[in-house]
Amino acid sequence: MSTTMLDRAFGHPHGLLGRIGGALMAFANGPEEEHVVAVARLTRTETVLVVGPGPGVGLAAAASRAGVVIGVDPSEEMLARCRERAANALLRNGSAADTGQEAESVDVVLSVNNVQLWEDRAAGFAELYRVLRPGGRIVLSTHEKALPVPRHRLAAEAEAAGFTDLQSWTWEPPRFSGTAAQLRAWRSDAGRS
Ligand SMILES: C[S@@+](CC[C@H](N)C(=O)[O-])C[C@H]1O[C@@H](n2cnc3c(N)ncnc32)[C@H](O)[C@@H]1O
Repeated sequence: MSTTMLDRAFGHPHGLLGRIGGALMAFANGPEEEHVVAVARLTRTETVLVVGPGPGVGLAAAASRAGVVIGVDPSEEMLARCRERAANALLRNGSAADTGQEAESVDVVLSVNNVQLWEDRAAGFAELYRVLRPGGRIVLSTHEKALPVPRHRLAAEAEAAGFTDLQSWTWEPPRFSGTAAQLRAWRSDAGRS
């Protein structure tokens, strides 16, 4: 498959290839999406922003555990799949760097298999920091082989945007999608009474 076809299927899903890509991602990445939701330990009172939910497996898992769930994806094809899987989620066309979300309005940000697609990672981390409430957390996961920089460097980039208490590790999914690199970090609430 050419790079353009791969991008239409998985990177920026569109048309028939996007629909096929969405079905494949739901199967292959579903366990990773659900694992990230489990790591985030969502509660019923929390508002969660899911960045790049793709076909919506993680979005649906988050919607069954949290209070309010918002999905932001630049692909209309994927937003349609998300609507089918999680009718109660709020969905919006956007990107990591431009979520359309108010400042300090979410408790948790989840991002699975899209950090490698962010056009500007510094702008993406800055935006996700901006929308998190102080004390809020981000959980990010992506196929290690797709990482644009080593995972410790990615953690340093998140730290440069203001995130604290960074943890990063690898996780082996049960299917064939390969080792995932994962990251968890907080927006500090220090200084707040
Ligand atoms: C490889 S798919 C992963 C989908 C799903 N999270 C999964 O793991 O199966 C990448 C998703 O990120 C979206 N995406 C592309 N560029 C993005 C960006 N700059 N910010 C957020 N999401 C983006 C794509 O539209 C697509 O739905």
